[in-house]
Amino acid sequence: MTDCILEQLKSQPSWILFLLTLGFFSTLKFSLSFLKWVYVNFLRPGKNLKKYGSWALITGPTDGIGKAFAFQLARKGLNLVLVGRNPDKLKEVSESIKSKYGSTQIKNVVVDFSGDLDDGVSRIKEAIQGLEIGVLINNVGVSYPYARFLHEVDDKLLSNLIKVNVEGTTKVTQAVLPGMVERKRGAIVNIGSGAAIVIPSDPLYSVYAATKAYVDQFSRCLYVEYKKSGIDVQCQVPLYVATKMASIRRSSFFVPSTDGYALAALRWIGYEPRCTPYWPHTILWALAYSLPESFVDSWRLNFCLGIRKRGQLKDSRKLE
Ligand SMILES: NC(=O)c1ccc[n+]([C@@H]2O[C@H](COP(=O)([O-])OP(=O)(O)OC[C@H]3O[C@@H](n4cnc5c(N)ncnc54)[C@H](OP(=O)(O)O)[C@@H]3O)[C@@H](O)[C@H]2O)c1
Repeated sequence: MTDCILEQLKSQPSWILFLLTLGFFSTLKFSLSFLKWVYVNFLRPGKNLKKYGSWALITGPTDGIGKAFAFQLARKGLNLVLVGRNPDKLKEVSESIKSKYGSTQIKNVVVDFSGDLDDGVSRIKEAIQGLEIGVLINNVGVSYPYARFLHEVDDKLLSNLIKVNVEGTTKVTQAVLPGMVERKRGAIVNIGSGAAIVIPSDPLYSVYAATKAYVDQFSRCLYVEYKKSGIDVQCQVPLYVATKMASIRRSSFFVPSTDGYALAALRWIGYEPRCTPYWPHTILWALAYSLPESFVDSWRLNFCLGIRKRGQLKDSRKLE
């Protein structure tokens, strides 16, 4: 049988053999990528996060993705430092975590990332003194209330986007790193966004997308910088998640709930430097990459123009 196939192949012109070889290697490459996708998304076990240290620090834990991370990390047996701007919401979240996972120790630190950041960071440093912070989730982030052109972005919004998304992430990382370097272990998760990585542009959200591009490159550099120090740095790239920032209330197949996202997210900590943990998002990512950039650009522009129109309409109704 094999001899017969070999004879057949030998009798083919060289261009057919070339195409067959090309086809064989393409199929092999696709099959290996698919098997890897199945393994990392469904079979690979999550890391034991306690091996990084017994405490996790989460920024923006009073709502959305950050809140879900706090619950999931407590479920894994980690103690928590919760850094948020609203003391009442921090108290409420820590009490409900304690009522569910009684043994979790929790420290709350009040920091408004759009306020005096140096003062806030020194309070974080004070709070974490003597604690083994093994996991840092740089989750806090702000976006536009709704899509708008750059000349419509006011100074306050511009400053908040840069202070919270860029400066906040950078300074909290700087505050937590020395302890991790000393102990030679740690995991840092920076929450990026598909706005900067999956789609070629995010028109009418330009500053938000650009701050997330910063988070992506910042994470990749730190990943290389601290790999040999035993610190795993990762940029997680969610697409839409049902939160107040996304203005999506109900989850669906492509839009996970915050719990659905955080559950998937924990399984990825300590692995690839960049990932999108919720597997249906990888399908959208692959689709976005397979389409011509100009097509995705104009689809996104029309989509965001629609959001802007609806936002302006709501604003004008409020004024009436
Ligand atoms: N949701 C999505 O579709 C999506 C997609 C891609 C990336 N992301 C990223 O995921 C992260 C979390 O987003 P989310 O959707 O969960 O947002 P969210 O529901 O709006 O929650 C944001 C959290 O950050 C806190 N926060 C906001 N401004 C703050 C400030 N100035 N100082 C201190 N804390 C502040 C909020 O506190 P309060 O509770 O006091 O408001 C809340 O705890 C962000 O980095 C975002 O860019 C989200």
